[in-house]
Amino acid sequence: MLRNIRSYARLELALEPGLVLVTGANGAGKTNLLEAVHVGTQGFSPRTRTDAQIVRFGESAGRVALAGTRGASRMHLEVTVQPGEGKRAKINGASLTAAEQLRTELAVLVFTPDRLAVVKGGPAVRRAYFDRVLGRLSPPRAPLAAEYAAAVVQRNAALRRIAAGYSSRDALSPWTERVAELGRSLVEARMEVIALLASGFAERADELGLPAARLVYDGKPPSVPDLEASIERDLDRGTTGLGPHLDDVQLLSGTRDLRQFGSQGEQRLTVLALLLAEAQLIADRRGYAPLLLLDDVLSELDPERRRALAGRVAATGQTLITSTTASALPAEPSQLLQVSPGTVRAA
Ligand SMILES: Nc1ncnc2c1ncn2[C@@H]1O[C@H](COP(=O)(O)OP(=O)(O)O)[C@@H](O)[C@H]1O
Ligand SMILES: [Mg+2]
Repeated sequence: MLRNIRSYARLELALEPGLVLVTGANGAGKTNLLEAVHVGTQGFSPRTRTDAQIVRFGESAGRVALAGTRGASRMHLEVTVQPGEGKRAKINGASLTAAEQLRTELAVLVFTPDRLAVVKGGPAVRRAYFDRVLGRLSPPRAPLAAEYAAAVVQRNAALRRIAAGYSSRDALSPWTERVAELGRSLVEARMEVIALLASGFAERADELGLPAARLVYDGKPPSVPDLEASIERDLDRGTTGLGPHLDDVQLLSGTRDLRQFGSQGEQRLTVLALLLAEAQLIADRRGYAPLLLLDDVLSELDPERRRALAGRVAATGQTLITSTTASALPAEPSQLLQVSPGTVRAA
């Protein structure tokens, strides 16, 4: 049940397992429905970090309550969003210390057209994406990227103090060592994630008509001697010019770089193949398939690729796909929902 989450005043809905197709005109509330399910299962919106934006205009709070199964166990989830007061979440009646904790309890993967930035955008977007995959696949290592970034910030501050004559060069060594140590752990963790994703990514991409898809990590662990060798440059610029904060991940089809040479449709398939590869890893590791929320995924895909996608997601736990028209999906969904402003009904 959703209450006052964005465009719905109140909504009660039973979602079928398998593939749920959510249709409706532009602005009807399809993205809102997926967003509400995401808030209810993960404790945050994939669209915004600002709580006020997910509460219906003119209301002071919103609530999502969900009942369902995770593997063999029944679960009741409840998330309340009250801008200014924060969010509260409960699982089976027990309060969590933070709504974001839901992430460790349930896995949800999202496609929105914004995610195309993972292929099209700069290296920072890809680094952030693979670091989030790392956090989902290996929760204890989720803080690693932030710890490394903090070490770089501290080393940079030390570089500037030295350049300004406020401290001696000796002051840099502990930071250089910390950057090298955390940098090595982060590069190793990212390479592991990429190795884990590689075969599933290639298989799913191939199935979706993108041949010989590969992921290549571009970077190597920063060593203390390498960092020390570039100390003059670093002092000059006041920044650390070496390390995984500058690395990238190449997304290739054969030898073709999809970032520069992929069509819009191919870039979409790349993001989907990454998502589906991760979904399989999550299912293997956690013992239950993640919920997939695929918003506006079908445009730019030809009927053959839409069919391949529908076939793949129909074989996993539960997937919500939005589309302006039901005919865009060349497959029979388990459930067809029609969204019009403020309501959703099963067709
Ligand atoms: N906080 C809000 N409260 C009420 N309505 C909102 C809020 N934020 C956005 N909307 C409106 O909700 C409608 C549905 O949006 P959306 O779910 O994105 O539609 P679509 O079906 O195209 O995905 C839009 O018309 C939008 O203006
Ligand atoms: Mg939408």
